Amino acid sequence: MAKTQRLKSFCFQLRFKSTQLFILGGAVLLALLVSVLCIGFTIRFEVQHEVANVADVDYWKDWVAIEQKLWYDRGIEELKRAMRVHSRQRQPRQLLMLMVHGIDAPALAAARFASADGNSSSNSDFIWDRFSHAARLKNSCSYSSPCDAAAAFRSLWSGVPLAAVQRLRNNCSSRESELLSVLRQAQLAGFRTGLVTNQRLTGALGSALYAQVTPSSWECDGLMPVGAIEAGCQDVAQQLISSAAGQSFNVLLGGGRQLFNAKVPSYEWDPVDELLCRARAGRNLLRDWRNQKLKLRPSRRFELVQQAQELSSINGSSLEYLLGVLANGDLSGNARAPTLQLMLHKAMQVLQRPGVGHLLLVEHYVQPQLAVSQQLQLLNATLSQLLGHKDQLTLVVLTNGNYLSASRDMSEETQLVSTLEKAFQGPELELQRRLQQMPSESLLFAQGPKSVLFYGVHDETYLAQTLSHALGIDVFGRQL
Ligand SMILES: *[C@@H]1O[C@H](CO)[C@@H](O)[C@H](O)[C@H]1NC(C)=O
Ligand SMILES: *[C@@H]1O[C@H](CO)[C@@H](O)[C@H](O)[C@H]1NC(C)=O
Ligand SMILES: *[C@@H]1O[C@H](CO)[C@@H](O)[C@H](O)[C@H]1NC(C)=O
Ligand SMILES: *[C@@H]1O[C@H](CO)[C@@H](O)[C@H](O)[C@H]1NC(C)=O
Repeated sequence: MAKTQRLKSFCFQLRFKSTQLFILGGAVLLALLVSVLCIGFTIRFEVQHEVANVADVDYWKDWVAIEQKLWYDRGIEELKRAMRVHSRQRQPRQLLMLMVHGIDAPALAAARFASADGNSSSNSDFIWDRFSHAARLKNSCSYSSPCDAAAAFRSLWSGVPLAAVQRLRNNCSSRESELLSVLRQAQLAGFRTGLVTNQRLTGALGSALYAQVTPSSWECDGLMPVGAIEAGCQDVAQQLISSAAGQSFNVLLGGGRQLFNAKVPSYEWDPVDELLCRARAGRNLLRDWRNQKLKLRPSRRFELVQQAQELSSINGSSLEYLLGVLANGDLSGNARAPTLQLMLHKAMQVLQRPGVGHLLLVEHYVQPQLAVSQQLQLLNATLSQLLGHKDQLTLVVLTNGNYLSASRDMSEETQLVSTLEKAFQGPELELQRRLQQMPSESLLFAQGPKSVLFYGVHDETYLAQTLSHALGIDVFGRQL
């Protein structure tokens, strides 16, 4: 009896233990299954989203030479930066565009290596080399001849191809051939606008922003036939003062005093430029500009400055309009011209207003007779101070179209190519110089919201169209 009782309790305990064992085993199995699933999902996620840490990847760096490992590690750093680049789809509220003439890809490369000492590569980086996006713009001026700078810029700002722009015939009494620049579109959409140049305000780039098609020699009235003036045609300087686009500029800083006024002071450090247009007797467009602003209702604060000291003493934040005509001819021809840094500082003061977007176009001609890499370093330093605003789309365009003369004479490039063979027999240095002078595609570097739109190779018409899209300018919905 006692025996059966013991057997019974033993069997009961055994059954109890096996149940426990079963539960334990089941739990372990389940845990294992869940872990496997989790690991599987994680790996899948990492592969899909590329969040795997590149530096953790087991690569062959451990058995390469120290020197190679060093550079591989640097490469990994750059790769990590590239993987962090993502497109920001917000709309920029402000646009800063720096257009540098006289620099193309070979010249930029030469400047990079001129400033590096060979010890490290980081010294030679310009600020735009760190921008997230880059593109090339085809430069029609390098394959169309003869190429007129005014037409090339009209094409760039209006988004109409160069060939079509060149077909437009000037007719002063008709607005048929009127092209709307991206800057005018921005003004109509309520953006504040500014132009800063180290040439003349009436130069090819500037005039294409606000003036209607005119022969490029009509930069002022001095070279216009009397008949054209009597027929009501306006030169570029006049259009800057009288056109709606010209009047709407909040900031205009540059040269060209002798085109606006007949009587200008001439100094050794700021001579009258005999190669440029000169205003006819009696003209005083600067006074006209002042009178025009005085008549504005409601009255707005404005300032007209003609010297660097005057510019540095104004308070841009309190101004609605600023006109600075700071040299008789090109600004680069005035030894006492204000620095680009000062001009941009004041321009930004005038443009920046809470809740209002703005566009600032900066044109800078590199002086070929001075050290190019030093000029680029100065631009680099100036530009560095203007970055960092999260709503700012910044574009740096480096171009070399030889646009210096108002109209490039009969296909300089064709001549260059035909004499190239002869040049091959010349000294190596001379050949290099000539190759660098050949117009090539423009380089465009972009940073900030919507910079993702600039990639690959584009026609020059792409710039204007993309900018008006990026800034959200609804041209067609408006009464123009
Ligand atoms: C390059 O680096 C070496 C060692 O760091 C240094 O002695 C040398 O002066 C540097 N060269 C230049 C041109 O700076
Ligand atoms: C350009 O500016 C950046 C930022 O100020 C600086 O780190 C870099 O060294 C400069 N590059 C050159 C070539 O001067
Ligand atoms: C200019 O355009 C107007 C209007 O389209 C036209 O009537 C006039 O004949 C044109 N003038 C010339 C010189 O082409
Ligand atoms: C410049 O003008 C703004 C707006 O009128 C004002 O708030 C600011 O104090 C002025 N700055 C100086 C340095 O006078």
